[in-house]
Amino acid sequence: MSDTAISHYLESTRDRPTREDLKFAVSRIDGARAAIDCGCGAGADISYLLDSGFRVYAFDVDDQALSVCQGRFKGSKNVVLSKASFETFDYPAASLVVADASLFFCPPDHFNTVWDNIFECLLPGGIFCGSLLGREDTMAQAGDNPSVFWSHVSAFDQSEVEGLLKPYEVLRFKVHRSGGKTAGGVPHDWHIFQIVARKPAS
Ligand SMILES: C[S@@+](CC[C@H](N)C(=O)[O-])C[C@H]1O[C@@H](n2cnc3c(N)ncnc32)[C@H](O)[C@@H]1O
Repeated sequence: MSDTAISHYLESTRDRPTREDLKFAVSRIDGARAAIDCGCGAGADISYLLDSGFRVYAFDVDDQALSVCQGRFKGSKNVVLSKASFETFDYPAASLVVADASLFFCPPDHFNTVWDNIFECLLPGGIFCGSLLGREDTMAQAGDNPSVFWSHVSAFDQSEVEGLLKPYEVLRFKVHRSGGKTAGGVPHDWHIFQIVARKPAS
């Protein structure tokens, strides 16, 4: 993805509405309010979590994303920003892990370790709220595709996602499929699993 495209993406998502799944996940958190935002982009979810009383540990691999977040959360003691990738981030204990449209870009060789790290960092009763890429999404198709944002993706079919969710109690699960054009006018088929799942309390 070019610097200009990233900059446009960050600008257009900076103040996007909060997804219902995240509002729902937050409503189900009891006790400690510590969240991790994996691949935080321009920080729309950080802002919502901060307003909801969370201390937020957020990371992104992209310099521009980090710079936008450093600007908007400057001086906030409850936002801890790191430049890191899914596989290098040191996951602190958290009651909520958010990964919206970001684990799509986890290198496949690292995905299982990253997925285990997310489960391990969650406190008992903690919640994962995020999305995984379906194999039928345009981004998951082999070949040189102009809608590919990053060079590698981790994509799954439904039975694989169900396997990944076995250790969790699934609170919400939706398969999103649609076709259309991206904001840049490129034809795209979307295939996304939207997940809210709780780590058992014991
Ligand atoms: C589609 S954006 C989603 C941003 C944000 N979660 C949101 O919903 O607005 C994907 C984000 O994942 C980040 N990303 C891509 N590969 C990553 C990696 N290996 N480790 C951490 N973040 C990554 C990108 O820089 C980008 O900010």
